[in-house]
Amino acid sequence: QQPVRIAPSILSADFAALGQEIEAITRAGADWVHVDVMDGHFVPNLTIGPMVVKALRKHSKLPFDVHLMISPVDPLVPAYVDAGADVISFHPEAGPHVHRTIQLIKSFGRRAGIVLNPATPLSVVEPVLGDLDLVLVMSVNPGFGGQAFIESQFAKIAALRKAIDALGKPIDLEVDGGVNVETAKRCIKAGADVLVAGTAVFTGGPERYAANIEALRS
Ligand code: DX5
Ligand code: ZN
Repeated sequence: QQPVRIAPSILSADFAALGQEIEAITRAGADWVHVDVMDGHFVPNLTIGPMVVKALRKHSKLPFDVHLMISPVDPLVPAYVDAGADVISFHPEAGPHVHRTIQLIKSFGRRAGIVLNPATPLSVVEPVLGDLDLVLVMSVNPGFGGQAFIESQFAKIAALRKAIDALGKPIDLEVDGGVNVETAKRCIKAGADVLVAGTAVFTGGPERYAANIEALRS
């Protein structure tokens, strides 16, 4: 388990001022910028295309953690690479060829991650765990911010921690959805080392962001 990093999800930011919002979380001590990409097909919401990511790229030097909720995945990977994504994660259900997609992302020199939905078993990543840089556990169903943390996912985080430690590779274990001060503490205890938070960071206005991020970390 590495030091905890906080990745604010800009899904909860002011979409009319995304550049300033990213600058504000950068100043406030965020470690990564989490970008939720939804296609209105794999998930019932439509959000951020590669052109927007490219425009945002110049507003922060932090790593861009791009969470693709799109199907199919491969045709759009080059566009997000070109837009400046550092980590690219995708859902195995969106496939169709999970290992091929991992290789594709890595062929561009970017870090590759797999996202496990609440009902997706850990066993899905086992055959390719050694090829991954990150595993993202969804603690809500993907599509919207502001949902409640699904308790059953703590056990999955703990089991993944064991699997990663057994492998002995520095694979990030990220959790996304319903992360607040209370659930953050339990995620870290279960073995998570990257926490995504939308609502919990972007609440109270920019002057609160630093305190919100610090509260999640400690
Ligand atoms: C959901 C997204 C999450 C979401 C988190 O599909 O992947 O990143 O924005 O938002 P909160 O922290 O509000 O649950
Ligand atoms: Zn996300």
